Amino acid sequence: MSHSHSAASAPSVLVTGGAGYIGTHTMVELLNAGHNVVCIDNFSNSSPEAVRRVEKITGRQVTLVEGDIRDTDTLQVLLSQRPIDRVIHFAALKAVGESVSRPLAYYDNNIGGTLALLAACQQAGVRRFVFSSSATVYGNPQALPLTEDAPLSAVNPYGATKLMVERILEDMCHADPQFAVVSLRYFNPVGAHDSGTIGEDPRDIPNNLFPFITQVAVGKRPHLNVFGNDWPTHDGTGVRDYIHVVDLALGHLAALDYSAQQSGYAAVNLGTGRGTSVLDMVHAFEHATGQRVPHVVAPRRAGDIAACWADPTRAERLLNWRAQRSLEQMCASGWTWQQGNPDGYRRS
Ligand code: NAD
Ligand code: UFG
Repeated sequence: MSHSHSAASAPSVLVTGGAGYIGTHTMVELLNAGHNVVCIDNFSNSSPEAVRRVEKITGRQVTLVEGDIRDTDTLQVLLSQRPIDRVIHFAALKAVGESVSRPLAYYDNNIGGTLALLAACQQAGVRRFVFSSSATVYGNPQALPLTEDAPLSAVNPYGATKLMVERILEDMCHADPQFAVVSLRYFNPVGAHDSGTIGEDPRDIPNNLFPFITQVAVGKRPHLNVFGNDWPTHDGTGVRDYIHVVDLALGHLAALDYSAQQSGYAAVNLGTGRGTSVLDMVHAFEHATGQRVPHVVAPRRAGDIAACWADPTRAERLLNWRAQRSLEQMCASGWTWQQGNPDGYRRS
């Protein structure tokens, strides 16, 4: 399916959940770097249109399999029919609040799905694995910035699935010395590809700050609720480490390279090392886009923490990767995507 013969015979990277927000951006960078990509997605939170846009941006084709990673037969066929030598595993459910009301769905999809995937990888001899973990594994941070050695804890079922999968992957590495795993602990991915043709596409009311801001700016919502202005932070609003999704995507390529050279288990933060408050983000967005973002102070959101940002030095040391893109670039690219696609992939 690929354009060049040499690329067609080279092994592929299997990307689970590749049609999603971070998956699409990572597939673009993989294809641009010359990798062949096989994507499996059940479209539970995405659409095939997203993959078509990836192909348009790169001028290359993705081998797309519509399927569920919990379906052992599909995985077995997929891994036996194609030369796949590594996996980037994004497929998961990710809404923290929903994980509290539907814990079984989260444990089944995120842990059960990963177990099925790992069993299929083991059978096919695929031993290089990059996993989408999250800064949520640090629970309520006791000290900042967060290094990978900070204490881990799960404060909701979603977080519990990330912690458990990290543990499973570490155990796999102990059991098989040739197994190579990088768990990437993402901080807060925002923004979009510069083309403005792929981006985050929340199905309902956005849970997260950044897509909520872009929807206010485009006129879909009247104002932003700022969840608390009495946190112990520089301006009283919650502080996070926002990272441009393209920087995050490039972190996956660096992790793949690392896993080709090193076996064993590594957990690595992907963040910028900078903390940005809710009000800082509103102001940065207004400055970068010229749009006003009306906002009102609302009560704190249950389960929130005051502040969270990364110590990114391990990523620099192990992966030779660091975030390059500014808050302004995050805002400008996210706005380009929102403006051009007010209803996400549904209107195209
Ligand atoms: P997303 O929902 O946009 O992408 C996930 C993709 O996986 C979707 O396309 C969905 O259809 C697919 N999927 C889900 N379950 C599946 C299954 N059983 N079989 C096949 N496909 C399945 O989410 P995202 O923001 O791109 O997140 C990707 C990964 O990164 C997830 O594991 C998420 O938990 C993790 N993560 C995300 C964030 C964030 O803020 N976006 C932060 C930390 C970690
Ligand atoms: N916020 C608002 N108004 C909103 C949405 C968010 O004020 O409408 C505030 C929050 O209170 C918080 C900050 O904006 O202070 C960021 O909130 P997000 O929901 O965007 O991000 P979180 O850090 O709370 O959550 C994210 C992911 C989770 C993950 C968590 C920890 O969405 O999946 O990071 O890594 F678990």
